[in-house]
Amino acid sequence: MKFIYQQMLAFLSIIIILSGTLAMVFFHLTKEMTYENAWQQMQGYAYTLRKEALKLTTDKAGKTIIVLNVSQLKATEKLLSAQHTHFTIYTSRTDVLYPDNSVIRENRSISKADWKKLTAGNVVKRKQDFRPRKSKSEVDGSDVKITDIYAPCFDYQGNLVAVIKVGEDLSNITQNLQIIRRNVVLTVAFAILVGVILSIIIAHFLTKKIARLRNATDLVAAGNFDVHLDTNGDSELDKLTLDFNSMVQSLRESNEEIKRQEERRRQFFADAAHEMRTPLTTINGLLEGLAYDAIPEESKEKSIELMRNETKRLIRLVNENLDYEKIRSGQIELSKTEFDVVQVLNNIIKQLRNKAEQVGDKFELYTPDKLMVYADYDRLVQIIFNITQNAIQFTENGVISISAEKGNEETIIRISDNGIGMNEEQLRNIWERYYKADPSRKNTKYGESGLGLSIVHQLMQLHQGSVTVESKEGKGTTFTLRFPNKNKLSKI
Ligand SMILES: Nc1ncnc2c1ncn2[C@@H]1O[C@H](COP(=O)(O)OP(=O)(O)OP(=O)(O)O)[C@@H](O)[C@H]1O
Ligand SMILES: [Mg+2]
Repeated sequence: MKFIYQQMLAFLSIIIILSGTLAMVFFHLTKEMTYENAWQQMQGYAYTLRKEALKLTTDKAGKTIIVLNVSQLKATEKLLSAQHTHFTIYTSRTDVLYPDNSVIRENRSISKADWKKLTAGNVVKRKQDFRPRKSKSEVDGSDVKITDIYAPCFDYQGNLVAVIKVGEDLSNITQNLQIIRRNVVLTVAFAILVGVILSIIIAHFLTKKIARLRNATDLVAAGNFDVHLDTNGDSELDKLTLDFNSMVQSLRESNEEIKRQEERRRQFFADAAHEMRTPLTTINGLLEGLAYDAIPEESKEKSIELMRNETKRLIRLVNENLDYEKIRSGQIELSKTEFDVVQVLNNIIKQLRNKAEQVGDKFELYTPDKLMVYADYDRLVQIIFNITQNAIQFTENGVISISAEKGNEETIIRISDNGIGMNEEQLRNIWERYYKADPSRKNTKYGESGLGLSIVHQLMQLHQGSVTVESKEGKGTTFTLRFPNKNKLSKI
């Protein structure tokens, strides 16, 4: 079933059930009240009659005698003829004193149960009774419905001596009730009509909002992430629309991220193919030269050295990729120990001094005599090697200073250079795989692949430490490494 019809059905059911119940309660209450009013009035007549038209005396034997003022009774009945009020006076269950011409049928006599109530002093009220039609104005053939009450009369000894029955034609009451019923039915019909119109408007309004969301979802499913829906309310649908907007935004961001990653991957494969082709061509040329003895004896050793270097470069490229994947997929386990980091730094400087001097860079080292670090030895060397190599790579005739100090339950190592530095955009991206701030520098002798820092980042995460970078274009760069102590790690 369509949502709009479900909504309408829900509204309508509520309106119909509510107005129906209210109408029934209202109708029932009015009916009861109308009867109650009529009974009150009739009871009043009965007491007046008792006072005015009935006299109780006692004969010589002490028996109570009822003296009726018939003319008074008739006069009162005449006065109330417009209300079709009739009086009957019983002296026992079956004996009627007034009217004297009244024909008491078997079923007109007072029932035993009612008589018992009357003897106890209660007034008996009955909603409906019948009396035969008699006047000309009344159509023959059926009885007239009447409502009546029976009021008891006691003598001075407290004996029930008479019962005054006041009967009233129900047509007055039923007429009134019919008018009320008609009004109630009209009101309910009006309420339902208004309900239908309102439910159509509300359901239409809701389905319009849903249709708008559906269209937008279709657009997003088709790959359009520029969709934005305006909202101004705070209903559930508005909140859903807000959620939808933020979902589209994160989809757009991740889509852009995927595109960026893809572009970098594509660039990397193009670079890698290019990088590999050069050494492979060199190796191939040299091998052919050796095979055909085209290389003079004195150059052979140099050629072999060249081939070895080129092969190393290839292996490095492949290894770095494999390493990155291994760290990422959690295949690498660190074997952490505590050792002196100052010694490690000295070793690295020794190994890289040659390279640094080739581009006119000088090393400066600021450390205490001894400083312990808790890390995987080989991985720590790999991290510092990578960052220091970058510093050499992007600094000419400058100073590369390395410092180590004790921090708050951690060991801090800083590697600074005063090289070319980076701008903010570059800084945001350097941890990403295959990222190279300047793609034109792809053919340096270090074989840039854009993997170094992403490996450093992953390794620092594995150490539960951190790596941060500060840089200014044209001024230089500082990398800060923080290795938590064994103590600190055991608390985490
Ligand atoms: N000290 C630095 N000064 C200026 N730019 C730097 C520095 N260190 C890194 N960068 C920038 O960050 C980029 C990413 O560095 P990363 O070490 O990840 O890759 P790479 O050095 O290009 O390649 P490799 O995988 O061979 O290390 C570099 O290409 C460079 O543009
Ligand atoms: Mg590097």
